[in-house]
Amino acid sequence: MFDLKKYLEEKRVLIESRLEECLDSHDGRRITAAMHHSLMAGGKRLRPVLCLAAMETLGCEPLKGTGVACALEMIHTYSLIHDDLPAMDNDDLRRGIPTCHKAFDEATAILAGDALLTSSFEILADSLKGIPEALEIISLVARAAGHRGMIEGQMKDIMSEGKKITKEELEQLHMSKTGALIEASVLSGAMIAGADKKALDGLGKYSKLIGLAFQVADDILNIEGDPALMGKAKGSDEELEKATFPSLIGLKESKIYAEELIDSAINALSVFDQKAEPLRAIARYIIERKR
Ligand code: IPE
Ligand code: IPE
Ligand code: MG
Ligand code: MG
Repeated sequence: MFDLKKYLEEKRVLIESRLEECLDSHDGRRITAAMHHSLMAGGKRLRPVLCLAAMETLGCEPLKGTGVACALEMIHTYSLIHDDLPAMDNDDLRRGIPTCHKAFDEATAILAGDALLTSSFEILADSLKGIPEALEIISLVARAAGHRGMIEGQMKDIMSEGKKITKEELEQLHMSKTGALIEASVLSGAMIAGADKKALDGLGKYSKLIGLAFQVADDILNIEGDPALMGKAKGSDEELEKATFPSLIGLKESKIYAEELIDSAINALSVFDQKAEPLRAIARYIIERKR
């Protein structure tokens, strides 16, 4: 039986030691202290793990991908710092500690986010030197994080506050705001591993489905999760009148929908052998998680 808990813990140790190196943050500067505050606060490290697990699915040694994996986590953490700002979701707690703007101040939090984003591309470029697909991977990650991906999703998320949108529109919103970076995490790992078209197709479908399911699960946790386990507040979506799956189709239906998405995601992996077991287990974890 594949042990996901052990797998996630092994990957966490690997990723966090590399993140510490990437950040080189004990230099006494305020900006690196703020970056370190949010980046090293602990998080599930799901995006870097997905990148490494996609590599392993294709038989590639994951160590080769740790730079890219860390870059993905830095982009994700930047998005959380900005997402929590008063101008956006206005949250005080993240990853179990005060949000960056609470621990420092708003200007520092904005700059820490900016710095994590730009540094991530430095790390991407440096760590991909000599890999034939390097430019393609950098372009893929930039597109996913940018105004055709995550930023578009964040824009729609804010514009949809207090409005009624259709299920298709909400799917698009979630697939951009959360799905795009998750998809890029899986596909960048696949590309480092030299995936062929068939493998990219399967992993592309898988990652789109888990990306959407991940945000549906986040919507559900915002209603019935335990803040102590999640390390962030609950009930904020309702307060801000966010467009979410539970508000649109109901809590029970949202759970069924998330399960259907995960079943389809696991089906999309049928072309792979047992080396895809981590990706299969992660898919289930995405909707079973408590944080
Ligand atoms: C939270 O992401 C924000 C979303 C995109 C839904 P995670 O649930 O992956 O947060 P961490 O990284 O574990 O803190
Ligand atoms: C966060 O989405 C998405 C990004 C940071 C891109 P949410 O605002 O729904 O996530 P939480 O609940 O604050 O983690
Ligand atoms: Mg938000
Ligand atoms: Mg938020």
